Parts: sequence; structure tokens; C-alpha cells
Amino acid sequence: MAGIVVLTGAGISAESGIRTFRASDGLWEDHRVEDVATPEGFAADRARVQSFYDERRRAARAAQPNAAHHALAELEARHPGEVLIVTQNIDGLHERAGSARVVHIHGEVDRAWCTTCDERMPCPGDLAAEPPCPRCGARSLRPDVVWFGEPVYALDEIYDAVSLCRWFWVVGTSGAVTPAASLVAVAREAGARTALLNLDAHDDTSMFDDVVLGPATTVVPPWVARF
Ligand code: APR
Repeated sequence: MAGIVVLTGAGISAESGIRTFRASDGLWEDHRVEDVATPEGFAADRARVQSFYDERRRAARAAQPNAAHHALAELEARHPGEVLIVTQNIDGLHERAGSARVVHIHGEVDRAWCTTCDERMPCPGDLAAEPPCPRCGARSLRPDVVWFGEPVYALDEIYDAVSLCRWFWVVGTSGAVTPAASLVAVAREAGARTALLNLDAHDDTSMFDDVVLGPATTVVPPWVARF
């Protein structure tokens, strides 16, 4: 049973140089969600979507985990109870900081999925080049990420952990996307103590026992040090 479950979003990676989505300089300012993050957009213009994720993969590989990622990894290593990270991020920075217990609810940009043989694998290179699937040879790889309108990953495992945790922290997310945004209600219902650590307050913070505002690299390390 995870004593602590931490839900993270793009904000935790912002100070590593990864763009968030809904800020004034966010990804959704210069990309239409429908064009690059839906199955319909992929069907309409495969090359555009492949290039969009190739770019995000390059950005993720060029980035370094920051003090907030490291603080959570250190907590996992020293905390007597289990620490589980449920991340909406596809950048892999939690693992690169040393976290072992990480669930990717929206997938991983460094992985690919063959829509012919259903094989999932480390990404063999830029997908805009349409490399063949290493298993079946078909040129039908897509990023192994969750697009709008598609079911998220590992939801049962996540609900089980959230409904049993003692502490539920939300770090660096706007809470704009479900089911991730509904997890705090599940945690609260189960009696967990909840906290929001974010640059900006959410419109409704009634689900949170504690609200700590500020950049993740500033607020996460001292918060984590208390546990
Ligand atoms: N430190 C802490 N929080 C930050 C920082 C920072 N340095 N910079 C930004 N934030 C906060 C913002 O205040 C905002 O609330 O991070 C949040 C980022 O929100 P979004 O851009 O909406 O990103 P996220 O919540 O992760 O989006 C959820 O939506 O677009 C989809 O699939 C995508 O996983 C993503 C999901």
C-alpha cells in the first residue's frame, strides 16, 4: 500500500525547460489539440503528429530532472512507507531522477506502439521517418501516449493506490484534465490528507487540506523534507 501518492503534471518539469500546455507560452498556444493530440488528428495528418512528438521527445531527452524530481526520488528511497508517483507527464524525468515507482497515466514519449501487431517498445527513432516495427516490420508505429478521447493507462492500479494512501499530493498541474483531476476526490473520500503544490492556485481548492504556491523546485524539497 502506498503511504504517499503524488500526482504530477507539466508544472514539475517546467523548470527543466519542458513547456507546459495551458500557460501563455504553453504548447496549446501554438498547436491545436485536435490536430496533434487526437486519433482523428493522426488520421488526418500523420506526419504532423509524428513530428510534434518527435520534437517533444527531443526536448525531453535534452532536459535534466530538477530539484523537485530529485526530492521525490529521495523521498521514495528513504521513506519507510511506499511512495508512488502518478504522472501525467510523458517526459521520463521522474525515472531519470531515480524514482522507481512511477505510473504514466498518459504514456511515455520515449516509447512507441505498433498499431498492426500491438507491440509496445522503446522508440526506435524519429517516427516521422516511419521506421518499421521491429517485431512485425509494418510501418505503423505511433507514440505510446494517450490522446484525447482515448482511455488512460493503469487506471485500476491508480485508483487502488489512491483509495488506500494516507497522503495525496498534487504537484504542477492545472487539474484541467480528467480522470487525473478527479483523483483528489477519491483520495479525500478515502480519508487521505491532500495537498496542492503549484505555481498558481486552482479555481477550486476545496479538495485540498494544504495549498502551497510557488515554483516546484522551491516548494517541493522543503515540503518533502517533512516526511
Ligand atoms: N512549478 C510548479 N507549478 C508550475 C510551474 C512551476 N515551475 N510552472 C507552471 N506550473 C503550474 C501552472 O500553474 C499550471 O497549473 O503547472 C500547471 C500546468 O498546467 P497545464 O499546462 O494545464 O499542464 P497539465 O496540468 O500537466 O495538463 C494536463 O493535459 O494537455 C493535456 O495530456 C496533457 O498531461 C497533460 C494534461
